[in-house]
Amino acid sequence: MNLLSLIRRKFVPVLEGYAVEPGPLLDLIRPAQDARHGDFQANFAMSLAKQLGRNPRELAEQISAELDLSEICEAPEVAGPGFINLRLRTGFLQELIQGIAGDDRLGVTPVSHPRHVVVDFSSPNVAKPMHVGHLRSTVIGDAICRTLRFAGHRVTSDNHIGDWGTQFGMIIYGYQNFRDEQLWEADPVTELARLYRLVSQLSEYHAAQAGLIPLEQAAAAAAARCDALSAEAETAEGDSSAKLKKQLSAARKESAAAQAALTGALEKLAVVDADPELSALAAGHPTIARLAREETAKLHAGDAENLRLWEQFLPRCLEALQRVYERLDISFDLTLGESFYNPQLAAVVEGLAERGLAVSSDGAMCVFPEEGKAPFIVRKTDGAYTYATTDLATVQYRHQELQADEVLYVVDKRQAEHFQQLFTTTALWGIDGLGLRHVSFGTVMGENGKPYKTRSGDTVGLESLLDEAVSRARRIVDENDDRREQPALTPEERGRIAEIVGLGGIKYADLHHNRDSDYVFDWDKMLATTGDTATYMQYAYARVCGIFRRLGLRREDLDFKGTAVLLESPEERKLALQLLSFGYAVESVLQEYRPHLLTAWLFSTAEAFSQFFDRCSVQNAESDELRNSRLVLCDLMARAIRTGLSLLGIEVTDTM
Ligand code: ARG
Repeated sequence: MNLLSLIRRKFVPVLEGYAVEPGPLLDLIRPAQDARHGDFQANFAMSLAKQLGRNPRELAEQISAELDLSEICEAPEVAGPGFINLRLRTGFLQELIQGIAGDDRLGVTPVSHPRHVVVDFSSPNVAKPMHVGHLRSTVIGDAICRTLRFAGHRVTSDNHIGDWGTQFGMIIYGYQNFRDEQLWEADPVTELARLYRLVSQLSEYHAAQAGLIPLEQAAAAAAARCDALSAEAETAEGDSSAKLKKQLSAARKESAAAQAALTGALEKLAVVDADPELSALAAGHPTIARLAREETAKLHAGDAENLRLWEQFLPRCLEALQRVYERLDISFDLTLGESFYNPQLAAVVEGLAERGLAVSSDGAMCVFPEEGKAPFIVRKTDGAYTYATTDLATVQYRHQELQADEVLYVVDKRQAEHFQQLFTTTALWGIDGLGLRHVSFGTVMGENGKPYKTRSGDTVGLESLLDEAVSRARRIVDENDDRREQPALTPEERGRIAEIVGLGGIKYADLHHNRDSDYVFDWDKMLATTGDTATYMQYAYARVCGIFRRLGLRREDLDFKGTAVLLESPEERKLALQLLSFGYAVESVLQEYRPHLLTAWLFSTAEAFSQFFDRCSVQNAESDELRNSRLVLCDLMARAIRTGLSLLGIEVTDTM
């Protein structure tokens, strides 16, 4: 049951009487911002009046009179220029709450037309440092899968891991040339990460050296242009002065960028030059980048030795990833990495060429999805297939084999152009009836204003990040319990709770930001016990459980069917409305796949509960009837938090 849809539906026949398309007008019927204006507000009269050339207030009055809402609402009131304010009848609200008493789903029924949605998320590149960005994709993608399933859709989660990319050539080269036998024996995954970093460091060293002169020239030229422009600007007047100032500010930006590129290159050189061991390695491997690329090409061409190494590396890397997923309680229906699509790539390019979509350009095969824009390279000059080719094969597979209706790519927003090109190419290719969407997200920033990095920057770093969250949560749990007159928790319980609080904190901190925005990783905010955090929600849950415990009641034994619900006070009414809007919150999350709309709902619900709890005593309620009614609300509140958090992949605990 979705209260808002119910109300909107009541407007349809009335609006049809005005011969207008109701859809966009119905969107303007919303929950009221201010309880004094009622519970819902219809704000479309102004725009409809314009369409019809009428007076908005009169129109609103007329529509109100035509509405048949008497079972649901008090008589509608028209306010201001033509707002229609609706207040639910208390009796109706009470019935609704009675109807969902004890229901974990809070009355939300599965959709009538389920879609099959493939969610491509997490998708780290194995053997390469897994960064917090992948954690973001993992957490957001999992929340989306859970919410879709809750709503009744069919979901196939697919971890499209990068297990076939250029990093393998790099670690193969590293393994053959720089492997430390002892480290390899002790911890292969850490050793592979070290080898990857070493090979990329040496490759970048040579690239920086080769690019130094052009970089210096570019920086000098940009600086000279700034000087020239600023001299000109000093004497210029009026319009031309304004124009020059604009040019100067653009030139300064360019100059700063050129300078930063130069500084970056110099830093890379300095690190290696200062270290005799690294310098010797750099000198001994001057063409390392090319050689590593050749190893990748050999692997892709089926070279036996490189395939053997790949088969040796891959399972170990996957195990390390699996540890992180298990810890986070995240699982995938499919883990079809890039390598899975390798056999299809040649046919993809041929197919595109046959249709005249892929054309040869400087020896490479390219699609030009949009005129004048960057090409989508599907086969490089050296014959290698690309990320683009794999993604095209993947779309085809998801369309033909998985029969998906929709594919979501939960990937960093820096890949927006890639997905734009992929989607356009797919359409040109003739795959239709498949909705493709890039569910993009921003960067996790450190307090220094730069992208956040775990200390070692790899999967191991990610695990220690999770450990740190749990150990910080442990401190909070300990302090809290030690403050009690009689500590209530055993060390095991404290450990279990710390795990729930710590990991929940990390997930929630990520999810409660609009996914498009960058956010700063901040331990203290993340685990704060008040404010919009998982900890606050988890406390609220435990607090409700505590109410029942203190009354000597076991929630799981209570049967609320037939219990009358009374919603006389504004706080009870507000909480009830909030609980009834869960379905609306779930729908809004799925509109554009924005889990923060669910955390926002949880937070408002927790606030509504806290006001209710301050004003409306359960234990000392004026009558048994009222006490029981309030218990129904408390129990629903507990279910709301548990279900809401579960859609975000976050657990709760009865005591904290
Ligand atoms: N492995 C890629 C990366 O780490 C992300 C893959 C996303 N999925 C896709 N189908 N392209 O950047």
